[in-house]
Amino acid sequence: MKAVVYTEYGPPDVLQLTKVEKPAPRNNEILIRNHATTVNIGDIWARNFKNITPSKFTMPLPLWLPSRMYFGITRPRINILGSEFAGEIEEAGKDVKRFRKGDQVFGYRGQSMGANAEYLCMPEAGLVAIKPVNMTYDEAATVPYGALTALSLLRKANIQRGQKVLINGASGSIGSAAVQLAKYFGAEVTGICSTPGLKFVKALGADKVIDYTREDFAKSGETYDLIFDILGKSSFSSCRNSLKRNGIYLLASFKMKQLFQMLWTSMTGGKKVICALSSESSEDLVFIKRLVEEGKIRSLIDKRYPLEKLAKAHLYVEKGYKTGSVTITVKHNNKKEKL
Ligand SMILES: NC(=O)c1ccc[n+]([C@@H]2O[C@H](COP(=O)([O-])OP(=O)(O)OC[C@H]3O[C@@H](n4cnc5c(N)ncnc54)[C@H](OP(=O)(O)O)[C@@H]3O)[C@@H](O)[C@H]2O)c1
Repeated sequence: MKAVVYTEYGPPDVLQLTKVEKPAPRNNEILIRNHATTVNIGDIWARNFKNITPSKFTMPLPLWLPSRMYFGITRPRINILGSEFAGEIEEAGKDVKRFRKGDQVFGYRGQSMGANAEYLCMPEAGLVAIKPVNMTYDEAATVPYGALTALSLLRKANIQRGQKVLINGASGSIGSAAVQLAKYFGAEVTGICSTPGLKFVKALGADKVIDYTREDFAKSGETYDLIFDILGKSSFSSCRNSLKRNGIYLLASFKMKQLFQMLWTSMTGGKKVICALSSESSEDLVFIKRLVEEGKIRSLIDKRYPLEKLAKAHLYVEKGYKTGSVTITVKHNNKKEKL
């Protein structure tokens, strides 16, 4: 089968279209004929992990070494990137009960990656679900990472109907899902991003948008029940006055300092810092599929590339041009082809 493989860390051109062995499903696995995948920030980092120093890493230092070892110290251990996918089941292992051949599915492989390929196997119990009927493969592939992460983190902050919620980083994968999910949970939502993303975030349903290149939300005098900062670009001290009494400052990207703030604020009461790692489940993916089918979650594709042009897609995302999702279409050519 065709796959884009990388055997050394580096710039996008380390990604090479190659022929690799087609995977075979185990008894508890499904074999998916993949039609679409995506490029997210995680793919960019994994492609060049050698250059992600502890200071560039957006998570606490004790997580850097295990991540580096997981992805490979000097060269990549996992050679095919791509965490999201959408495709059709070609074969189901003999113990599989939830799915059958021909089902259209979508899902998320997290750090195990491997979706930049024509075929992939997923355990039946993994993060895979029937694809929303109202989405194409391209659209469906863009949903799982952002929506699963945002859903998990918003739940950890116990989001409630009627709350005023601020999403800092609202045009990205997690932020754009967080805007839509917060609206679904009945919050009044303000989204923050730079100028090119404002229209996009408004179209997702944000009640208000703020351009961080022109305005500092922390100086506006507005207060929120929940401030969700995706990249951790603000700080608890600068946001303290923008939080209501008992307000929550939620971080998707954080360091040891914010973990200590979390510990301290959990003991002192009042305004709280929450740093959390997402914990996704296949039930959440089924819930997200339902929200998509009810029109509560949409996918807005910024650019589409064929698998053969994956390196170009990486360059686009790496430069920070992405507003919405970048999707990779996997075309299957049954004739013998030259790679
Ligand atoms: N806690 C967890 O379990 C977990 C799980 C997965 C990922 N993460 C973390 O999530 C982060 C990636 O999130 P993502 O995939 O959503 O990223 P993304 O798609 O690259 O989006 C980044 C967002 O941040 C905005 N942004 C950039 N600079 C900003 C600034 N100075 N102020 C405010 N907003 C700014 C961008 O807007 P513009 O483009 O308009 O600048 C965009 O909306 C990583 O740091 C990763 O470690 C955490």
